[in-house]
Amino acid sequence: MARSIAICNQKGGVGKTTTAMNLAAYLAILGNRTLLIDFDPQANATSGLGVKCGEDETIYHAILGGVTPDKVIKRTYLSNLDMAPASQDLAGALVELVNLQGREYFLRNFVAHVSPYYQFILIDLAPSLNLLTLNGLLAADEVIIPVQCEYFSLEGLSQLLDTMQLIRTNMNHPIEIGGALLTMYDKRERLSREVAREVRRRFPTQVYDIEIPRSVSLAEAPSFQKPVVLHAPQSAGAVAYEQLAKEVMNQFPDRSAPTYIPPTIPQNEEFREEIIQEEERVIDDFPKTDEEFYERYFVFYE
Ligand SMILES: Nc1ncnc2c1ncn2[C@@H]1O[C@H](COP(=O)(O)OP(=O)(O)OP(=O)(O)O)[C@@H](O)[C@H]1O
Ligand SMILES: [Mg+2]
Repeated sequence: MARSIAICNQKGGVGKTTTAMNLAAYLAILGNRTLLIDFDPQANATSGLGVKCGEDETIYHAILGGVTPDKVIKRTYLSNLDMAPASQDLAGALVELVNLQGREYFLRNFVAHVSPYYQFILIDLAPSLNLLTLNGLLAADEVIIPVQCEYFSLEGLSQLLDTMQLIRTNMNHPIEIGGALLTMYDKRERLSREVAREVRRRFPTQVYDIEIPRSVSLAEAPSFQKPVVLHAPQSAGAVAYEQLAKEVMNQFPDRSAPTYIPPTIPQNEEFREEIIQEEERVIDDFPKTDEEFYERYFVFYE
């Protein structure tokens, strides 16, 4: 079974989606079959990776519309990375789920179904603590909490750690804290340095070593519909997310990723064609094979 990781913080704009997209991309590049689930009605991860899907082919339709996962899961520009896209329809799920039995567990059922096909499943969550977020957390084994290096972040982090404790005790779900991740870190700013130091002091064992720097490349990559590794692989932001992927891979060794992965979930051929055409239009010289890809980009990964 895959290790499933929710990227969660009820605060908006702290780097959840940036982390979900780029951590997923690097986990994939480092050899892991990875699925990124966009579970936010804003659908930023879906548009940020340029994933196209039909109107009834989003995660919403998979959890509530009876559409099978193979119709919903799409390929991306990286061969090891698939994506379950979202659209604003997902906002409707909130209302529909309320009256359903087992309403907290719809995403978990989906994840359980596709888990054998992946080593990592990442879930990008919305900036709220509602039934959708709860679905995301109950579908996850671990949670990563991006924390922006600014003044009120510490309170938010304490609250969220309390929420995880409630999920463990009240919902009987043994979710692990993967860690808090310091984002948009600017070592020239005193506030940034102080917040980072304080977070590490208060939660010494629960913060990732790597700090994600404020980086223009990270901010602009989604406008090219790419993860940063395909946009600016040498930038400081890219290097940091690669480091994070390595830290994440080394966590929880007893829950190690499976060695045998069944063949990829069958794809809807028509869409695959469309994606390939789109790919050719957008990036003419994009490496056509994995070998070419590694040759071009792996220089930076030793
Ligand atoms: N390390 C970084 N350096 C520079 N810009 C960043 C960085 N991380 C994120 N950003 C930018 O900050 C904005 C918010 O980031 P992002 O969308 O990842 O946050 P979020 O927590 O997912 O937001 P939301 O709560 O709305 O889902 C985006 O414009 C993004 O490009
Ligand atoms: Mg987001």
